[in-house]
Amino acid sequence: MQYGNWVKPKPLLLRNITQLLTLRSAANGPRRGTSLSDLSVIQDAEVLCLGGKIVSVSTTKDALRDPWLKKNRKKVTEIDCGGRVVLPGFVDSHTHPVFTHPRLVDFEKRISGANYEEIVEAGGGIRSSIDGVRKASKTALTKKVSAVLADVAGHGTTTVEAKSGYGLNLESELKSLEAIRAAAREWPGTVVSTFLGAHAVPPEYRGRSREYVDLVCNGMIPAVAKRKLAQFVDVFCDRGAFSAAEAAQIFSSAGKYGLAVRAHMGQLSETRLGSLLRYQPASLDHMDHVNDADLPALARSDTVATFVPGANYFLGLSKYPDARRFIESGAAVALATDYNPGSSPMLSMPMAMSLACTHMKMSPAEAITAATINGAWALRVADRKGSIEPGKDADLAVFEASDYREIPYWFGTNRCALTIMNGVPSGRLPS
Ligand code: NIG
Ligand code: FE
Repeated sequence: MQYGNWVKPKPLLLRNITQLLTLRSAANGPRRGTSLSDLSVIQDAEVLCLGGKIVSVSTTKDALRDPWLKKNRKKVTEIDCGGRVVLPGFVDSHTHPVFTHPRLVDFEKRISGANYEEIVEAGGGIRSSIDGVRKASKTALTKKVSAVLADVAGHGTTTVEAKSGYGLNLESELKSLEAIRAAAREWPGTVVSTFLGAHAVPPEYRGRSREYVDLVCNGMIPAVAKRKLAQFVDVFCDRGAFSAAEAAQIFSSAGKYGLAVRAHMGQLSETRLGSLLRYQPASLDHMDHVNDADLPALARSDTVATFVPGANYFLGLSKYPDARRFIESGAAVALATDYNPGSSPMLSMPMAMSLACTHMKMSPAEAITAATINGAWALRVADRKGSIEPGKDADLAVFEASDYREIPYWFGTNRCALTIMNGVPSGRLPS
């Protein structure tokens, strides 16, 4: 769903790019194995964007010969990238931006030694974010989502998936998705919406999980589909959340209403994937726990395994998803922030990439592919997003770096100098 494009994009010429990471590939599918390392770099490059689309990508030498450019030079806004690195804007394929308060009590409890499930039992966790969302006006939630969108753009993200999931009744789930839509309309980037009614069983359904799943399937999904408020339906499938059978029921209902599916999977415990891969989920996210026997089927599918190492970091875990095992099996992998108030209050894709490099042993090149074109596959927008190629949307990020490996290397500081979303620049390059 593209809500943005509120400003008419001007013709743009990005010049003086030391390394342009195009992520161009002949393959028609998510990157796997060794192809994750191929960034298709052009040294000393230029990019021409017209009408919010990329029209040409070339070395500086070739760009000067372009007949259109020769004739129309005066109409074009030139951006001197000052020898910096330019890459596709990040595609953050997993965020939960619709909440009202940080969960500071959970934070302190965790520091004192409580784990995820103990915090839930003590009244914290997902359920403790429900009240705030139920009481908030749509305007207040829209303001919150807008602030997140502005912030992600400042970190180089140009496409973001946004989930509901803290309302957990029909009215507040619709309100959350409407807030996402309203905020997205004011943002030049691209938002993909996901309905996550099956994030937790709300307190009024305690002990009646089955009835709640029926409500999600027969009440909420049809209402979301009718209002065209989401492209995806997500479910938190894990110990203490929803079972694989419940996830399958939800996937099946989503399919009936024309919505694609994705799931939170294997964060706390292992769930066998077979019964769910049948529904061709666009992605399975977290994947800290996975059965070896499921990897071949995952690798044969176009389902992307999306790692969210910000959650491992913030939960203080020493174990991270075993990215090498997935990559070696041939599975497609992506990286996302999982921005949320409980397990990952972090919206920086470069930080997620840094964690993936240091703790999951992904190379900088693999991390960049996972954060761009494979994120786009995970959202099924790879025909428009995730690489810098003629015909694709003009979504680019300019980084304060002369070598792409610096992007995950410098952590804890934001080195994104400029973001271009659908041809609209945001930020300013220092001269
Ligand atoms: O992706 N795992 C489920 N959902 C979130 C946590 C959300 C929360 O704690 O509020 C996650 O980590
Ligand atoms: Fe999540």
